[in-house]
Amino acid sequence: MSTALSRRRFLAMPAAFGAASLLPGGFAAALAEEAPPMPDLSDWGKVRAQFDLDPAWLHFASFYLASHPKPVRDAVEAWRRAIDRDPYQTVEHNGYSEDPAEWVPGHVLAAIAGYVGGRAGDIALTHNTTEGLALVYHGLPLKPGDEVLATAHDHYSHITSIAYATRRAGASMRRIALYEDAATATPDAMVGRLLQAVSPRTRVVGLTWVHSSTGMRLPVREMVDALKERHPDVLLVVDGVHGFGSTDVAAATLGADYFCAGCHKWMFAPRGTGMVWASAENWARLTPIVPDFSEIEGWNAWIEGRERKGPTTAERMTPGGFQAFEHQWGALAAFRMHEAMGRARVGARIRELNDQLKADLAGIRKVRLHTPMSGELSAGLVAFEVDGLKPEDVVKRLLQARIVASSSPYAVSYARLAPSLVNTPEEVERAVRAVRAIAGA
Ligand SMILES: Cc1ncc(COP(=O)(O)O)c(C=O)c1O
Repeated sequence: MSTALSRRRFLAMPAAFGAASLLPGGFAAALAEEAPPMPDLSDWGKVRAQFDLDPAWLHFASFYLASHPKPVRDAVEAWRRAIDRDPYQTVEHNGYSEDPAEWVPGHVLAAIAGYVGGRAGDIALTHNTTEGLALVYHGLPLKPGDEVLATAHDHYSHITSIAYATRRAGASMRRIALYEDAATATPDAMVGRLLQAVSPRTRVVGLTWVHSSTGMRLPVREMVDALKERHPDVLLVVDGVHGFGSTDVAAATLGADYFCAGCHKWMFAPRGTGMVWASAENWARLTPIVPDFSEIEGWNAWIEGRERKGPTTAERMTPGGFQAFEHQWGALAAFRMHEAMGRARVGARIRELNDQLKADLAGIRKVRLHTPMSGELSAGLVAFEVDGLKPEDVVKRLLQARIVASSSPYAVSYARLAPSLVNTPEEVERAVRAVRAIAGA
């Protein structure tokens, strides 16, 4: 990397772009001429046709890690070709250009900003949810005696990030259950449990938007409103990965102080891409952990042998070092694809398929549903048990019926089916029939 780095200002970015033949020196022009137009995504069959998933199987675990849809494959491949032709010029030019039209990460940030309803300058690009959570918790100004309040429902990545960060700071973590039984939990009861658990030492609350253990989608807005009314100084970190791309909610309006998500699950962005959104005020609270490769002030300070000036920003918190640039830049196509499909339309389709699955599973004797029936308290994951069978055995039996399901990696584990845009109502019916057969009902 040269030291001639730019101070980019998120100037009037052109609307988000897709893939192109991306030679250095004319990104915008090359795109205008060569970007394959976004395919017609006006019906769900056309959306499904974008995926290379093996048709011999019904894919009900697609949230685990994205299969790249065609627009994303094309974008990744176009960037790969450009980088393989000339790594130095392509990366130096498109990764660090002074011209906002040529600076590809700026286009990616603009597209994410449009999707989350925030500002491009408030978004840090990461590699996954885990990295975003680790950066935020380690960046927070925790002191000995401080407490981070988390829940029994958070993922390994979230709890381990808090454990490492609190241990280093001499702070502590406490975990509470927001419900005993997700299927019967109510927003009021969950808000009540959270408020009751906040102590005078609580500085940060960590929540997970959609629990991958039970499929519960927390009423984050109600929780944050209640929390901030009584404890305005307590910060809220949200692991949002399973609501991001599966619901019609603009993440930046959810109420979290820090919203961390991978883009490589429901968003279909290239594997190894993620993001964190926070306001400028909240970014400024953090201490960076990994050197960024983008803010000119950092390089100037290093060259001049002085302290870096100015507050921490999303840009400063974005992990630097060279990247799998074809994947990072290919994320643009995924956000464009979601823009073309429409967040509301995507959310409604996923809800419809999940409602169908839940209603039908609930009618099977010997099946116990753990995900709330309400579409407001759930998203794309349906967790269930079959009497007398371990979750992994249910998953094995479904595999024998050519249905890819998963079990949740938590202390209490359930079988999960996750209807998404790659599925149809008929596939949901087939999955239900298979569960019925497994249950012997
Ligand atoms: C709730 C939750 N958070 C975090 C992760 C880890 O995500 P990533 O691979 O993006 O780090 C997972 C994994 O599926 C998850 O279910």
